[in-house]
Amino acid sequence: MYRKKIVAGNWKMNGSVTKNVQLVSALTQSAPDNIEIILAPPALYLSGVKAQLMGSSIALAGQNVAAEGQAGAYTGEISAQMFADIGVSYAIVGHSERRQYYAETDSLVAKKCLRLREQGLKPIICVGESLAERESGQAEAVVSRQLKAVIDYCGVELLADAILAYEPVWAIGTGKTATPHDAQAIHAFLRQLVTIYDKNIANYLPILYGGSVKADNAASLFSMPDIDGALVGGASLVAQDFLAICHAAKASMVG
Ligand code: 13P
Repeated sequence: MYRKKIVAGNWKMNGSVTKNVQLVSALTQSAPDNIEIILAPPALYLSGVKAQLMGSSIALAGQNVAAEGQAGAYTGEISAQMFADIGVSYAIVGHSERRQYYAETDSLVAKKCLRLREQGLKPIICVGESLAERESGQAEAVVSRQLKAVIDYCGVELLADAILAYEPVWAIGTGKTATPHDAQAIHAFLRQLVTIYDKNIANYLPILYGGSVKADNAASLFSMPDIDGALVGGASLVAQDFLAICHAAKASMVG
């Protein structure tokens, strides 16, 4: 099954006008072709980064989106329509930091997915278990519950135009990466789960791994059959590190 590799950089709450210009200019100069590269800067910087990306195939993602569909009195929120309006193609939903720090529930995440689909944006749907959940043998149950909430609410067709990201919470920003074998096991489990609903959608669904992906562990992760790329946090802020991950993704497709 041919699936193009995808490397997405989640900048989280980092960046400045000056730093962004330097980072994006380094990326546009040396990014490999034939893989999909997505950047998710803070929403405030999307338009500036978009202008800098003119003529480049690098795509943009929001880091979050409002669950409400209609414009209105929702202070601080940004709608899917607004992202579409400025030419953003993706938005991250269900990141564990939003689930943990902003009490986002499975059903809220599902609503956000629907809002994105209504506007023709693709969700990057994050799932992942905590350390306690992994140690008590619940990793599969947790990611399955998180993904099923989206499928049940939006329909499996949503996944025909979406990216799934497995991000074990214990590996995010900790320097602890899941071993390629452990990550592959969950990726295969997730794909198998989608197969029950629709085999074709499951075959084409890109499943990214996220959690301390660095230049030196990317190649071994990308060599796994169900790991279709990475959702990168910290290393996406350093041009040379992010580029090295992008080049590892490209090399894994050739090999
Ligand atoms: P780190 O790469 O910094 O561990 O972050 C991963 C992540 O949360 C990407 O969304």
